[in-house]
Amino acid sequence: MSALNQRVFEQIADGLADRGYSVVDGFLTSTEVDQILQSDEFEKNKLHFRKAAVGKTDKQINEGIRGDYIQWIDPATASPGESAYLHRLRELIAYLNQNLFLSLKGIDLHRTVYPIGAKYQRHLDQFHHDDHRKLSVICYLNKAWKEQEGGQLRLYHTSGPLDVLPEAGTLVCFRSDQLEHEVLPAKRERYSLTGWITDRSY
Ligand code: OGA
Ligand code: MN
Repeated sequence: MSALNQRVFEQIADGLADRGYSVVDGFLTSTEVDQILQSDEFEKNKLHFRKAAVGKTDKQINEGIRGDYIQWIDPATASPGESAYLHRLRELIAYLNQNLFLSLKGIDLHRTVYPIGAKYQRHLDQFHHDDHRKLSVICYLNKAWKEQEGGQLRLYHTSGPLDVLPEAGTLVCFRSDQLEHEVLPAKRERYSLTGWITDRSY
């Protein structure tokens, strides 16, 4: 593991242990972000992203709750940039297991597009009858995002709400069972890789 990764992983582990969340910028470099966005998997497939459903079993689509479009990533067919990201997340898992004594195993990951005006109402990421999602990890892909463009991720922490701008390379990681959050509508399309670190390995 590189010294740089080591430092970033440490920052994430400290945040999770102290507050249940962590926000780090530069988790992906600008070049890696370009590589992900410009790949056929992202660029050309965008048309085939599906409207995200609400809930695990009923697959209900409810725009009032969430308006994003997603496509699940199969690691076997991920683009080179996405594979590099998955590799870094696996290193993060190893680091967190060792340092926070967790038993994290798998990663579920999807490409995400929020059209202009789309939102995701306040929610928790863990399902009612399925507690395998342990950590939510979101990496944003939007260069030079401005505050007035909206699209903040609002984390409802016990110490008060915290807004995160979806700036390219920024990684947000938080406990899926604890932290309620919402996505505010944006004036610009909003791209990300959204994932969950689970305690199962399929
Ligand atoms: C989610 C989610 C937050 C974001 O997909 O469950 O809360 O900032 N995403 O995209
Ligand atoms: Mn969520």
